Amino acid sequence: MSEHNVYVLPGDGIGAEVMGPAVAVMQAAADQVGCAVNVTQGLVGGVAIDATGSPLPEETLAAAQQADAVLLGGVGGPKWDDLPMDARPERGLLGLRQALGLFANLRPALLFGPLAQASSLKTELVADLDILIIRELTGGIYFGEPRGIEMRDNERVGFNTLVYSEHEIERIARVGFELAQKRNGRLCSVDKANVLDSSQLWREVVSNLADDYPDVELSHMYVDNAGMQLVREPKQFDVIVTGNMFGDILSDVAAMLTGSLGMLPSASLAASGVGLYEPVHGTAPDIAGEDKANPLATILSVAMMYRYSLDQPAAADAIERAVAQVLDAGYRTLDIQGNEAVQSDQLVGTKAMADLVLEHL
Ligand code: IPM
Ligand code: MG
Repeated sequence: MSEHNVYVLPGDGIGAEVMGPAVAVMQAAADQVGCAVNVTQGLVGGVAIDATGSPLPEETLAAAQQADAVLLGGVGGPKWDDLPMDARPERGLLGLRQALGLFANLRPALLFGPLAQASSLKTELVADLDILIIRELTGGIYFGEPRGIEMRDNERVGFNTLVYSEHEIERIARVGFELAQKRNGRLCSVDKANVLDSSQLWREVVSNLADDYPDVELSHMYVDNAGMQLVREPKQFDVIVTGNMFGDILSDVAAMLTGSLGMLPSASLAASGVGLYEPVHGTAPDIAGEDKANPLATILSVAMMYRYSLDQPAAADAIERAVAQVLDAGYRTLDIQGNEAVQSDQLVGTKAMADLVLEHL
């Protein structure tokens, strides 16, 4: 029997709340396909600051490096908002991405049929929507040096650096081309090449790779236009590849098209080694602890983990099928209720939603 070691980092807010139910689904899927998943748990983000003083304790990083996959809930919350930049909970997540070399962030925006009415767009614009956003995750303005806040001419200035080297652009672009090959063969590279030098290089490097993938239709789009096109006619996209900050923004936009941020999973992959899986939603401090959070983004992240890191596609399929069945049966958490008249016994909380997925597994 194959055995997998999964390191679980619940983190803060609803991230921590959805983790227990998601781990239960993970174990049930393992039983079903006949593999074993050993779970260990650690601290990251605000809870790690409270317990150890650091958002990314050394033992957390060491354990993550040893694991086959990491499942993370979310980090951050108002309690830690006043901390200096380098001490904030978010640094824990950014530090993990960087230390584990997780340069490729896959954020699918897939609409489950019954949720079309929960989308902020008209049903016909989003029916059958299936986009994959590939976000570069370890470079760009998130990590560029120099950065800081300093005195210049008697006032404070804040600055960051948007920097991409050719090899960073090439490796994320290749992920884009390869995944486009497995999907509908269309890749749209998003940049701001009309203004930014780093984007000019980005566009040149991506274009130069196109000959290696004659079966992929490559296009380029400026990021402002891409934001507009995502809410105008989202189905024109198949795979989008873009830099760290543009991807952060566009993936939230794409998420909303599918009805709720509460539905979207993500995978962060390295060239080799451990992968990290997390819901795209944050820690939602406003509803944390109230059994209102939608656990499906984390449960679907578990499915991605089975597919991309643990090589158990049957477990991934089983989880995704169970989620689709629960939605087909009419069950909703608050965030995906939309304008529907949901029967009161079908409007469920975090635990009940996860239990329904377990039942359907
Ligand atoms: C995300 C989040 C993170 C990011 C934060 C929490 C650091 O918004 O994963 O999209 O900006 O990358
Ligand atoms: Mg974000």
